Order: sequence, then C-alpha cells, then structure tokens
Amino acid sequence: MYSFHVELSLISGSANRPLADAVAKVLGVSLAASLIGRYPDGELRVEIQDSVRGHDVFLIQPTSPPAEEHLMVLLLLADACRRAGAARLTAVIPYFGYARQDRRAVGRQPVAARLVADLIECAGIERVVAVDMHGRAMEGIFSVPLEHLSAVPQLVAAVKSSLPEDSVVVASDLGATKLAERWARILDLPTALVHKQRVSGEQVTVRDITGDVRDRSPLLVDDMISTGGTLAAAAKILIRAGAKPHITVAATHGLLVGDAATRLAALPLSQLVVTDSVIPQLALSANQSTATIAPLLAEAIRRLYEGHSLGDLLSLG
Ligand code: R5P
Repeated sequence: MYSFHVELSLISGSANRPLADAVAKVLGVSLAASLIGRYPDGELRVEIQDSVRGHDVFLIQPTSPPAEEHLMVLLLLADACRRAGAARLTAVIPYFGYARQDRRAVGRQPVAARLVADLIECAGIERVVAVDMHGRAMEGIFSVPLEHLSAVPQLVAAVKSSLPEDSVVVASDLGATKLAERWARILDLPTALVHKQRVSGEQVTVRDITGDVRDRSPLLVDDMISTGGTLAAAAKILIRAGAKPHITVAATHGLLVGDAATRLAALPLSQLVVTDSVIPQLALSANQSTATIAPLLAEAIRRLYEGHSLGDLLSLG
C-alpha cells in the first residue's frame, strides 16, 4: 500500500520577510528558497529554487506599499508554483491592498478590490488568508475561499494592561463600528463613534461623535493607519467633546505613509499599537509598538494544512 504524504512549503514574497521568518520559526519549518529580482529593463524576475511538486504551498506576501510591485510578486510566485506542480496554493496576505476600493464612490471609477481578487484567482491561488481587511464585503468579492483572520486578540493583549479604567472604545469611522463593538465586548467597555467624511486621500473631516466620551480616555480602533489623517481628525473632535488627552490607538495595519509621523507626533497619544502585518514606512517612536501576528498566521497555516477548523481565529460577527 502506498501512503501519500503532502508536504508543506512556506514561501516568502518580498514585502515582509521578517514576518515570514517569524511564521516559519513558529511552525518549525524553513522557508523554501526563492529568487525575487529584476531584469535589466525593470521587469520583475521570480524563481522558486526548491521543489514544490505535490506540496501544500503557502505564499506569504502582504500587498503593502508599493502595492503594485508586491501584488505582482505574489502573482508571479503563484504562477511559478502552479507551473511547478504545487498540489494546493494558498496566499497568506496579512495586509490586503486595494481593499478600500471595494465600491465606486463616484461614477467612472474601478472596483479595484474585485479586480485584484480576480487577478489572484487567475494566477492559480485557490485560497486566501488575510487579516482584518477593510470591510466584510471583501468576502463576497472573492470567488475562492477567504479565511478572514482577526488580530484583535493580539492587539488587546498588547494594550490591555495600560488601559485606564475610564476607557471608551472609539470607532474612528462608521466602517470601524463592528471592530469597536468587538473590542468593547472583549474589554467590557462602552463604545463611541466618530462620524468621518473623507475629503481626499490625505484629508478627512469629522462632523460629530455618537456616544459619551466626556472625562473618558479614548481607545481609538481602526483596521489601518495610512497617513494618520483619520486619527488626527478623530483625536481633535474627541478632545473638543471633553475626552481626556490620554488616547490609546490600536490598528492592525500600520502603513504610516506620507505625513503620518508629523501627525502622530502632534497627538496626545499615550500609546499606539499596530501589528507586524506590514513593515511600517517610518521608525516607530517610544510610545509606539508592534504586536506580532506570526503565531496567529502560523496557527492558521497549521490548521489549514491539517484540515482543522479556523473558527476561533476568524473575524466574524
Ligand atoms: C478607512 O476607512 C480606514 O478604516 C482608515 O480609517 C483609513 O484608511 C486610515 O487612513 P488615514 O490614516 O490616511 O486617514
């Protein structure tokens, strides 16, 4: 009798090698050797240097800035694995770029999130693992199964011990309401909501706050921090509404691009925690830290490989 054993292969893209190394370490495996470079004309050149024939392959690549390059590397790696005979192909995309463009805000715009999902499927990726994506609608955008993990438990563990008793969980916009409710359930805290309007990619305005924040210490939660504009606007209206100038920020993806450093430095932040889903574009200062999601990703990969439930790791409800 033959006994068939499917091997697991872990491959890192170019976007976050430290995270891929950390996941491999937790799993006790080595990353498959790969080459990611460029041809003289600038085109990307990718090659998997270890055999993946018949393997259960997991590609780790957040599509963080520069999103186009990191997305293209992911697609090329996937195509290489498929052509090299991988038995199953899962993309672990800790931060999924373009997720915010999941509908048209005005006419004659693309639905970029859908297009990226289609490209991923077209490259032969059969399943996607992502963390705290911008919206729940993303699930409907993929035809392949999406395992949508939540890093909230990791972020809660990082901030919990230093949260004042008078904290209130604040959703930095309507889209973060479900996220804030999740935090509030775990920490048994009240919630508030900042009503935000986006003026441009860099500028937002806030109109109002729902919920009682007076004399309370805000815990601002969001899926991501990009330029810090949302945080700056939310902090301003919170202070104006009588909240204490003792703000904690927790967000899964710390892109920290553009004016983020200046904006964050001007805020009355007691602490800011993001995860290591992406490599931030700027160095974190003393009251800013990262919580690792390597054990979360490793556990999800292990369970998918062994065919076990991911239920308690998912971002549902
Ligand atoms: C948007 O709806 C997201 O949840 C974040 O609030 C937003 O993308 C953060 O971007 P920024 O830091 O540039 O305001």
